[in-house]
Amino acid sequence: MAFEVTPLPYEPTALDPAISAETLSFHHGKHHKAYIDKTNAAIAGTDLENAALEDVIKSARGQNQGLFNNSAQSWNHGFYWHSLTPSSGEPSEELQSMIDSAFGSTEALETQLKERGVGHFSNGWVWLIERGGKLEIGETHDGDTFADQDANPLLVIDLWEHAYYLDHQNLRPKYLEEVVGGKLNWAFASENLNRGTTWKYPC
Ligand code: FE2
Repeated sequence: MAFEVTPLPYEPTALDPAISAETLSFHHGKHHKAYIDKTNAAIAGTDLENAALEDVIKSARGQNQGLFNNSAQSWNHGFYWHSLTPSSGEPSEELQSMIDSAFGSTEALETQLKERGVGHFSNGWVWLIERGGKLEIGETHDGDTFADQDANPLLVIDLWEHAYYLDHQNLRPKYLEEVVGGKLNWAFASENLNRGTTWKYPC
């Protein structure tokens, strides 16, 4: 069964001006679709054809760089669309307690997310992850992912230029300021923590 681009869980204009409908039309409609199409083409007719996306990623890691890049980027983008929301809301009580314990406050976590995102060299992703019962900020380069690692990703922010260039040109700090300052989906992060296992790409 072929993978599909996950539908946006909000209207394309819903994140404007942090992320415009024009950016989403390219990012979701072209970039994510290209990763999905290349993944589907690579697994067609192989024994991975009916595998879950997480298993495709795990199988390709260190073995098939092209398939790894495209399958991991497919997963990361599906996770990213859900990591964003028009109105952030609040972390669950359990997540808030873990945030306070690890970072001191939500504001301090947000500051660190922005700093790590700004400091990340070139393409990649900045994550909030849970590992061993504690929260951490993680970074992955290029298409790398936490989807198949020994950690539970709670949120992710895309740091590739295609995520912000049309709206903010080269100003990654401005993109991060607007996304972290009001568009992170704390309900999704709380669900991911509560589930206790890594989010599954819909199929
Ligand atoms: Fe992207």
